Amino acid sequence: MERTINSKMVLVTGGTGYIGSHTAVELINAGYEVVIVDNLSNSDITSLDGVERITGHRPTFVEADCCDRDAMRRLFESYNFDSVIHFAAFKAVGESVAEPMKYYRNNMLSILTILEFMCEYGRHNILFSSSATVYGDADKLPVTELTPRKPATSPYGNTKQMAEDILRDTVAANSSLRGIALRYFNPIGAHPSAHIGELPRGVPNNLVPYITQTAAGIRECLSIFGDDYPTPDGSCLRDYIDVVDLARAHVVAIERMTSGRCKCPYEVFNVGTGNPVSVMELVRGFEQANGIKLNYKIAPRRAGDVAAVWADTTLANEELGWHAERELSDTLRSAWLWERTIRGLK
Ligand code: UFG
Repeated sequence: MERTINSKMVLVTGGTGYIGSHTAVELINAGYEVVIVDNLSNSDITSLDGVERITGHRPTFVEADCCDRDAMRRLFESYNFDSVIHFAAFKAVGESVAEPMKYYRNNMLSILTILEFMCEYGRHNILFSSSATVYGDADKLPVTELTPRKPATSPYGNTKQMAEDILRDTVAANSSLRGIALRYFNPIGAHPSAHIGELPRGVPNNLVPYITQTAAGIRECLSIFGDDYPTPDGSCLRDYIDVVDLARAHVVAIERMTSGRCKCPYEVFNVGTGNPVSVMELVRGFEQANGIKLNYKIAPRRAGDVAAVWADTTLANEELGWHAERELSDTLRSAWLWERTIRGLK
């Protein structure tokens, strides 16, 4: 039977996760039909309720692992999406150092399986969630998409580099495939409705969830890792991108592929604000935006951190017509509103 491929249907792997759920909202708001596949290993099914509350639509949900070939075959047999956004991956840098095999198996097998079925079933567009981690300790800042990637400093970073390469080579070998890798800088914040946001399990690794949990009294004190970096105030510089802005970048990238506007079959875009912000500035910004005093101390540097990385976003601005829009203070308010909402605080 001839299959009709639906260009307005998108498969979102890892779609119940932090960035995945925000992207599902933006896709639905832009008129796409969303099918989510997730094994719920690091996310919560309740994010679907949040997506539904915001958009009025509940995405189709399939609980499965992207490494499970039988399950993926059933998925490709059942749904006629033309595009895939591949978020599903493990993402904790420290854990990847302790358990490299777990990271290599999951993060590599999942993208290989997805690409294999996309080729077999004639699906055309794949968007991969990559990371600024691929730049490592860059020689020149801000980083552009042409900045050479440095050898990865963690198995997690290595899986992002290798997945980019697998995508590039697979697209080059299959004339019907188009691929875009979005290199995220530091995604933070939550949907302004506070219906969806980040739900870290256990002690957060990332700065903003640690800040909000400290503000909520769940953590006693925030450690600022290092005040002796060669930066203006001695703390690390990062490029904090609002998660809703980041989610919107996925929609425009999908539109670029589905409407045949790609300049090359495989493209890479930085997704950041272009503004370096120090850890100290972020902490003060959170305090000011929310009228809170945070309990924090200076602690030794954290292994593996680079002093500074931020994006040159010219390519995404010009080619995708995408710009980061939300003010950092609004983003930091949304992060605190989300934390209060999930903790039942006023
Ligand atoms: N930081 C603290 N205290 C904390 C947590 C973080 O001071 O409790 C600092 C870090 O040292 C760093 C900055 O806050 O300077 C940001 O740290 P995050 O852990 O939030 O983010 P990273 O920049 O380390 O991580 C990001 C992505 C990862 C990616 C990594 C690569 O979240 O997915 O960049 O460097 F792998």
